[in-house]
Amino acid sequence: MRIEDQDGPTSSGSMLSDVADAAPKKIFIKTYGCQMNVYDSDRMVDVMAPHGYSETSSPDDADIVLLNTCHIRERAADKVYSELGRLRDMKNEREAAGGKKLVIGVAGCVAQAEGSEMQRRAPYVDMIVGPQSYHNLPAMVARSGNGGPAQVETDFPAEDKFVSMPAAEKRKTLARGPTAFLTIQEGCDKFCTFCVVPYTRGSEYSRPLTRILDEARSLVDGGVREITLLGQNVNAFHGEDEAGRPTTLGGLIRALAKIDGLERLRYTTSHPRDMDDALIEAHGDVKKLMPYLHLPVQSGSDRVLDAMNRQHTAEHYIRLIEKIRAARPDIALSSDFIVGFPGETDADFEATLGLIREVGFVQAYSFKYSSRPGTPAATRDEQIAEEVKVERLQRLQALIGEQQVAFNRACAGRRLPVLFDRKGRTPTQLVGRSPYLQSVHIENAPASLFGQIAEIDIEEGFAQSLRGRLVREVLAPA
Ligand code: SAH
Ligand code: SF4
Ligand code: F3S
Repeated sequence: MRIEDQDGPTSSGSMLSDVADAAPKKIFIKTYGCQMNVYDSDRMVDVMAPHGYSETSSPDDADIVLLNTCHIRERAADKVYSELGRLRDMKNEREAAGGKKLVIGVAGCVAQAEGSEMQRRAPYVDMIVGPQSYHNLPAMVARSGNGGPAQVETDFPAEDKFVSMPAAEKRKTLARGPTAFLTIQEGCDKFCTFCVVPYTRGSEYSRPLTRILDEARSLVDGGVREITLLGQNVNAFHGEDEAGRPTTLGGLIRALAKIDGLERLRYTTSHPRDMDDALIEAHGDVKKLMPYLHLPVQSGSDRVLDAMNRQHTAEHYIRLIEKIRAARPDIALSSDFIVGFPGETDADFEATLGLIREVGFVQAYSFKYSSRPGTPAATRDEQIAEEVKVERLQRLQALIGEQQVAFNRACAGRRLPVLFDRKGRTPTQLVGRSPYLQSVHIENAPASLFGQIAEIDIEEGFAQSLRGRLVREVLAPA
């Protein structure tokens, strides 16, 4: 899952000094779920590095295999148990062959939600560690392998995790490429009736401003050009400034925009109730803030929105979009939708399609409602039949697909600044991101373009990507 191997061990003399002094050990992390898990997986690599662990891209040569899990829908959680079954076999095979021991760990939201239940269901798991407890991993690893039941760490205080993680400049995983995630906020207090996040990630916590700015500067020093600020409810950010005063996401964006060398900013995921005027204004006048906004609405029916406890109506969402578009007319919008929420009628679903037509999205994530244990919606009568959910999902995705391809096609003929952050399929192809988060492919790309932003003439738009050509005269030295 991880993109590249890390260097060998960097230090010893810790509580795991016996490990650090021995041959370098390997950790393999498989990441499921949202971007916050991607960020956390890198932090777990960082936290283990001083203890002699380097990252590997295969479970086969790993001493520790860690699954960083997601609990958001039933399928996501089920995947974890089937993967664990495979790891149990691997552990047994190694033991039978006298090979090296395998420590199995489960991190993330399934670990948090299931805790000791997982101990019973998968007794071969050695460590179960919730999202706010990753700083405890080295101690857990040190204690593992003595044949006892799995260790479970699922305490909550989010600040401990951030304070105890290695500072950005000491990270092994710093700047894996020109784009990076930076978690600024954790947890959620919204309690939508379908959602597990408030239970798995706990209540809202915002990191202090100076820590975020320091981390961003380190990323930029490492070659990062674009940062995506992360939070389960990122626009509820209220991290304290140096004087201990709460700030806002709009204020943070303005402060980050002053960092030389940082060219682009994005943030995800937002709640419509927390899109305040200061943030909308920032979309209007902070050039580095990209014209793309992921703003989940879930449904276009007020009846369903109310049952979901979304705390806004369809009308509120539409007015909000008007305001945002007034500040930044070319903003591209993305959203999340759930179809088949308990009690959703045909008319409710039509209202969702109506909202999609009215707003116009450039892409979206859409899901069939999945009943989650412990959430209020799970106990409601009127659960919707699977075939109805399937049909609604197909119709919704077809409509979004039409809007997406129309937007991409309309980009043909435009000149867009593209940040090149990936290699293409052929040696001469490079892939980058447009301001609207579209993938842009170019052929015959000079290798020096990787990590740079260049003006690209868009020649063709497809369902999922754009094809373009480098504007040579812009790149050529004067
Ligand atoms: N914090 C974000 C998103 C959290 S989860 C927000 O407030 O929008 C990402 C998406 O998963 C949600 O937006 C929702 O569309 C979907 N989701 C969450 N719980 C779900 C469930 N029980 N069934 C189906 N989809 C769900
Ligand atoms: Fe879940 Fe709602 Fe919080 Fe988003 S706002 S994380 S959907 S409870
Ligand atoms: Fe999944 Fe947890 Fe993220 S449930 S979506 S990994 S916050």
